[in-house]
Amino acid sequence: MATSNPGKIREIEEALGGLNWTLQALGSVPLPPETGATYEDNAALKACSAAIATNLPALADDSGLEVEALGGEPGVYSARYGNLNTDLERNVLVLDKLRRQANRRAKFVSVVILAYPDGHLETYRGELNGTLLEGPRGENGFGYDPLFVPDGDTRTLAEMTVAEKRAISHRGRALAALMDAHRDGRPARQTITIE
Ligand code: IMP
Repeated sequence: MATSNPGKIREIEEALGGLNWTLQALGSVPLPPETGATYEDNAALKACSAAIATNLPALADDSGLEVEALGGEPGVYSARYGNLNTDLERNVLVLDKLRRQANRRAKFVSVVILAYPDGHLETYRGELNGTLLEGPRGENGFGYDPLFVPDGDTRTLAEMTVAEKRAISHRGRALAALMDAHRDGRPARQTITIE
């Protein structure tokens, strides 16, 4: 798993439990800076660099929150919004920017890429629509979860269990598509080294 985000690791491990794969965290293998302009570019950067460094298939998630009233911000910059260091500070920034804003629609986007050491890529995408509260609620999850109430529910993502969040979330949907592609028990595509 080409990520150092414990929240993502927890969700990926829970979602892919049904596949007979051995999942390994990246450990000390460094990830490249996220210099891409899209989720796809950044997920490919992370997954390819980990696949090359480890010579194993590597799975990366690049994701973000897109707030309608902020023209889609923070989007691909969600992890470093406002150059702030903590989830709490970034949540406060979003709430500040939305103060007195009636339109609180937002969506989460996740692009999951499975990269193989020979350069082959599989890409999966998931989205989740919802609204942002005026203050945080819930202790679970990570990132902007305490602010986000998905359509069709009254709880925030931070008030759900990992399994409840996975069943509806952007990342859960992208990972379900990956599961479907490998459902017949096929292992991840074999690695072929091209000289
Ligand atoms: P990146 O994919 O490493 O660039 O980081 C994505 C950022 O988007 C995270 O650090 C969170 O701030 C936010 N984000 C992505 N997915 C979620 C989620 O499922 N819940 C809450 N915040 C998320």
